[in-house]
Amino acid sequence: MQQAIEIGRFITFEGGEGSGKSTQVNILAERLSRSGRPVFVTREPGGSPAAENIREVLLSGQVAQFGPLAESVLFATARADHIENAIQGALQQGQWVICDRFVDSTRAYQGAMGGVPRALINALEQLTVGPVMPDITFILDIPAEEGLARVSARAEGQDLDRFESQELMSHERIRRGFLDIADEEPGRCVVVDASQPEAMVAEDVWETVLQRLNP
Ligand code: TYD
Repeated sequence: MQQAIEIGRFITFEGGEGSGKSTQVNILAERLSRSGRPVFVTREPGGSPAAENIREVLLSGQVAQFGPLAESVLFATARADHIENAIQGALQQGQWVICDRFVDSTRAYQGAMGGVPRALINALEQLTVGPVMPDITFILDIPAEEGLARVSARAEGQDLDRFESQELMSHERIRRGFLDIADEEPGRCVVVDASQPEAMVAEDVWETVLQRLNP
């Protein structure tokens, strides 16, 4: 008789520019793999071939002229495809899915910063995400100024994309947006102080994963 496969766990990382999400995604993936768990690392916008096409359009800035509502519709479209053609399959195979940004980025960037009404964001979430919500969402919190300084250090000599070139005030609004989500959903979200050294952030993340999901 075939053994039933355990459904995988779903972990997302959120945060503003320069919060070190990608590094933490990789460290956690490595640790979970070492503990014997199959891991699938992905990102948004993107993560499936069709969603990666939408990513290109979004990051090129061409959608910006239509405003944040149009952007949130496109982020949601990409997300629906990503879930259907990548995330769900991985979870059903028992993989631990780690995603760099997910639904909370739309709430924070297009909602809190862009002013798209919450009711619209909720409706898009219901249509696209449905029950596929993360088991844990790490919100890597860093003051906007510190985060932006890190990004410009990292991107020296490179052009910043449209999103990265938005100013400080917008970024504080995004930060506030993420912190509000954490207040609203403490069962899912964990705020981690991302101004700490990388290794300490990684420890906080790992401790939470051990406590909440026992890999
Ligand atoms: P990316 O180059 O992946 O940068 P980062 O390292 O910050 O994740 O760019 C993704 C950008 O898209 C980022 O500025 C946040 C933005 N974004 C939204 O505005 N809404 C969303 O729903 C998502 C997923 C991302």
